[in-house]
Amino acid sequence: MENDINKAYELINEASIITVLTGAGISSESGVPIFRGSEGLWNNYRPEELATPKAFFENPGIVWEWYDWRRSVMKKAEPNHGHYALSELERQKDKFTLITQNVDGLHQLAGSDNIIEMHGNLWEIRCTKCNNLEKNYQVPIPELPPKCSKCSEIMRPNIVWFGEIIPMQKIDRCIFAIEESDLFMIIGTSGLVEPAASFGFVAKEHNKTVIEINLDETPGTGLYDLSIKAKSGEVLPLLVDSGNTLN
Ligand code: OAD
Repeated sequence: MENDINKAYELINEASIITVLTGAGISSESGVPIFRGSEGLWNNYRPEELATPKAFFENPGIVWEWYDWRRSVMKKAEPNHGHYALSELERQKDKFTLITQNVDGLHQLAGSDNIIEMHGNLWEIRCTKCNNLEKNYQVPIPELPPKCSKCSEIMRPNIVWFGEIIPMQKIDRCIFAIEESDLFMIIGTSGLVEPAASFGFVAKEHNKTVIEINLDETPGTGLYDLSIKAKSGEVLPLLVDSGNTLN
């Protein structure tokens, strides 16, 4: 493990252009529950059952209750050492792109700038009829489901749900960032949800160096150059010079 950390430190130091993919694991040390595993359950529902347009149109109330609960958890969450280390790394590199599947906004709070939010943002809501997009930080939301201020129709979380399509332009930006990078890092994602699940394979097809940081093995683990089995909040500050900007 120590060898892998030293090797990763060198690879990060040598790279001028870095692209990073993060998943729920990077926020777990901030108290945000991950999706898969027993912790990922809410009232015995799985995310795959609630994060869908079908579930929403059949029962917007229950889906909104779930999001209202997630927003209450995330409102209390603060970025951890891992988030801060990545924002520090961005400042040190010629180019740095942070692709995240997370919707919690913690990378922004930690100071990261060049972020591609693949799955949207929990603090944005969108009208199901007129597409009016609003920032909303109310916790709890007083009336569920919230109504559009323009047309009074039901608002939904501005999240890309299962069965919905991430805009092609966004995926292109991710692939481009991977292709132009010297190093690709994959942090705290189970690698089970597409299209992000394929990004590590895309990087290897382009002969990129790939470092994974995860508590568990993932479908790509054997293929990557380094897989560090550790908590991202503990290992990332060791990999980035003066990355630890928390008190
Ligand atoms: P998952 O919950 O599927 O996976 C989290 C991964 O992080 C697991 O592999 C854990 O082992 C790992 N992990 C947990 N704590 C960690 C830590 N402290 N340091 C490093 N690794 C840690 O989350 P995602 O892969 O992000 O989509 O899930 C992908 C998407 O599926 C989510 O964006 C969400 C979900 O359904 C939508 O809501 C649309």
